[in-house]
Amino acid sequence: MNVTKAVFPIAGLGTRFLPATKASAKEMLPVVDKPLIQYAVEEAYAAGVRHMIFVTGRTKRSVEDHFDTAYELETELELAGKAHLLKVARSIAPDDMVCTYVRQPRALGLGHAVLCAKSLVGNDPFAVLLADDLMVGKPPVMQQMVDQFLKWRASILAVQDVPREQTNRYGIVSGQSVADGLVDVTGLVEKPSPADAPSTLAVAGRYILTAGIFAELESLPRGVGGEIQLTDGISRLLRREKVFAYRYQGMRYDCGSKLGFLQATVDLGVTHAEVGADFMDWLNERV
Ligand code: UTP
Repeated sequence: MNVTKAVFPIAGLGTRFLPATKASAKEMLPVVDKPLIQYAVEEAYAAGVRHMIFVTGRTKRSVEDHFDTAYELETELELAGKAHLLKVARSIAPDDMVCTYVRQPRALGLGHAVLCAKSLVGNDPFAVLLADDLMVGKPPVMQQMVDQFLKWRASILAVQDVPREQTNRYGIVSGQSVADGLVDVTGLVEKPSPADAPSTLAVAGRYILTAGIFAELESLPRGVGGEIQLTDGISRLLRREKVFAYRYQGMRYDCGSKLGFLQATVDLGVTHAEVGADFMDWLNERV
């Protein structure tokens, strides 16, 4: 069985990016010329996913418009003979891609957001992508995850090593190394202090989960910060099923934070086909 569905939880409040996110979606912030959510959708599509499920909330309507057909814009571009831009506008939602939207009525946590997609996901394994973690990898990080899933047929968490002083920002896994880059997870804890962290292996915003996660999330009491944490649901899933952590190859930018967003803008800016060379010259003059 392949991974054909992806869940994009985008109902968070994005408070670290205020005032930009007061009335607009964090996921629509563009890095160079593409909104964060489009990078994530393209990554899922490249991995063979065709059904994109967005868990949305207030202020997120622009995401629906972004993946919808823009007849007015397309007509104008066609009339103006701007074939290249027309292609760009149309390529955002390829014909074989299905987008479905479900609301998370209150931001009760990432685990709760994933649970909102239960009826749309059904019984198949599915991907979860957090668009504010912008991933650059070759092959794309979700493709690397799908490759691992097809080999092990179990839930896969994307992980990376972080400095010990940063463990309190992440879900941290413990377990035994079973293959190159792969850890058989035996424990998972949300945002432990550096002193308590069982390792420095941190979960990044890419998951492939079996449908078994839904039963765990449904019976979960609220965790850290009064939220239903996905990490807690995965900890429970561990009691019943194998879960692996995979050290992905690639670069992660935490675009939910201002610093990560600026780093992504610079790195993707200097490699951009249209403006990269000029931007690099300008940067070199500045620093
Ligand atoms: P974050 O922890 O980054 O929270 O959520 P946030 O609300 O988006 O941002 P800050 O911390 O207030 O700045 C991680 C991911 O989970 C989604 C977010 O949209 C983001 O993609 N999420 C979080 C939900 O969909 N629902 C929630 O209740 C919480």
